[in-house]
Amino acid sequence: MKTTPEHGFGTRAIHAGQQPDPTTGAIITPIYQTSTFVQASPGVIKGEYDYTRAANPTRDALQANLASLEGGKHALCYASGVAATGAVLHMCSAGDRVLLCDDVYGGTNRLFHRVFAQLGIETVLVDMTDIANVRAAINDRTRLIWIETPTNPTLKIIDIEAVTAVARQHGVITCVDNTFASPYLQNPLRLGADIVCHSMTKYIGGHSDALGGALITNDDEIHQKLKFLQLSEGAVPGVLECFLYLRSTKTLHVRMERHCSNAMKVAEYLDRHPGVERVIYPGLASHPQHDVARKQMRAFGGMVTIYLKGGLEASRRMLERVQIFALAESLGGVESLIEHPAIMTHASVPPEQRAKLGISDGLVRLSVGIEDVDDLIADLEQALTS
Ligand SMILES: Cc1ncc(COP(=O)(O)O)c(C=O)c1O
Repeated sequence: MKTTPEHGFGTRAIHAGQQPDPTTGAIITPIYQTSTFVQASPGVIKGEYDYTRAANPTRDALQANLASLEGGKHALCYASGVAATGAVLHMCSAGDRVLLCDDVYGGTNRLFHRVFAQLGIETVLVDMTDIANVRAAINDRTRLIWIETPTNPTLKIIDIEAVTAVARQHGVITCVDNTFASPYLQNPLRLGADIVCHSMTKYIGGHSDALGGALITNDDEIHQKLKFLQLSEGAVPGVLECFLYLRSTKTLHVRMERHCSNAMKVAEYLDRHPGVERVIYPGLASHPQHDVARKQMRAFGGMVTIYLKGGLEASRRMLERVQIFALAESLGGVESLIEHPAIMTHASVPPEQRAKLGISDGLVRLSVGIEDVDDLIADLEQALTS
C-alpha cells in the first residue's frame, strides 16, 4: 500500500517505502545484492539504477521509510552514524564556525574537535539548555548548530523549537542527532530543524547486529548537497544492512513503548535505592528539563543515567556483578546494556571537559532493554547490594 503522512506511525513503519516486489509479488523488499546494473546502451540505463554507491532499490526503500517516519521529504543512509555526522560537517568550509551542544556522544566530540578542526572548521561547545548561551555564541561565521537531545550521557534535554528559531533568524543550518529518542518519540523537522541525524545502529536497528546512519531533511537544496557528498565520498551502507534496518523499523513503535515503560520503572526503582546518589531520567519530575521533554517528546526513552555513591569502586562492583544487563558500549538494542562513560564511550572526551559535564567515576549509563522489567530490577538489586 501507499502511505500518506496522515497514517499513524505504526502503519507508516510497516508500509512506507515498501511495495510488493513488481516481478514476484514478494511482500518484503528484496535484498538487491548487486554493485552494478546492466545498461541498454552506453549511458542509457534500464530503470533508475546504474551503480549501488549512487543508489540501490533496497536502500531507496529504507530511505523512503525513514523519511516518512521523521516527517521528512528526503532521507539518505550511511555506513554508520559517524559517517552521517561527517557528511553534514562536509557541507561546512574552512573558516566556518559550528556550535556543538556540550554533552554529546564521545565520537561526535572527537570528529568535530580532532578531524574537522584540522580542516579549519571551528567548534564552539555550548550548553544549549539555556537559549541565551546559543544567542551569545552565534557570530557571522556560524554555519551550523549541532543539537543532540537527549544528550549522551547526561540526558540533558535541549528545546529544539527554541534553538532552531534562533538559528533561522541568523540563517544558520540546524542538525538534530535524534538517536536517543528515535523517530517514534521525537520529530525534530516538525520542530524547525533542517536536518535530522540518526545512528541507526541504536534504536532504529534495535537488535545490536548492524551499523548504520541516516540523514533526513525537507530541504531540497540541502538534500542535493548531501546526495552529491554521499556519491562522492561513498560511505553508503551495505545492502544487507539496509534490509535489516527495513525489517527493524517495522517494530520500532512497539519496541520503543516497552523501552520507555521499562526505563521509567527502572528509574523509579533506582531513585529509591540508598546506594544511588542521583538518577537522571527525562521522565522523572526531578529532571531539570522535564517540562521541555514533555513538550517535545512522546515519551521519555530507554536511557537512564545514575550517579552511584562510592565513585569508581562502587561503579566497578555494580558493572562486574550484573547478570542480565550486559557490560558493553552502545545502546538501543532489545537487550539491556550498562556501561561506564568515563572509561568507555566518553574516554575520548578530554578529562577537563568530562569533569565540567559531570561525567565522573560514579556515573553509570543504562540502556534499558525490553526484557521483563521485574527481572531487570531484580538484577540491579543483586548487583547493587550483593
Ligand atoms: C547519539 C549518538 N550519535 C551518533 C553515534 C555514532 O553512531 P555509530 O556508532 O553508528 O557510528 C552514537 C554512537 O554511540 C550515538 O550514541
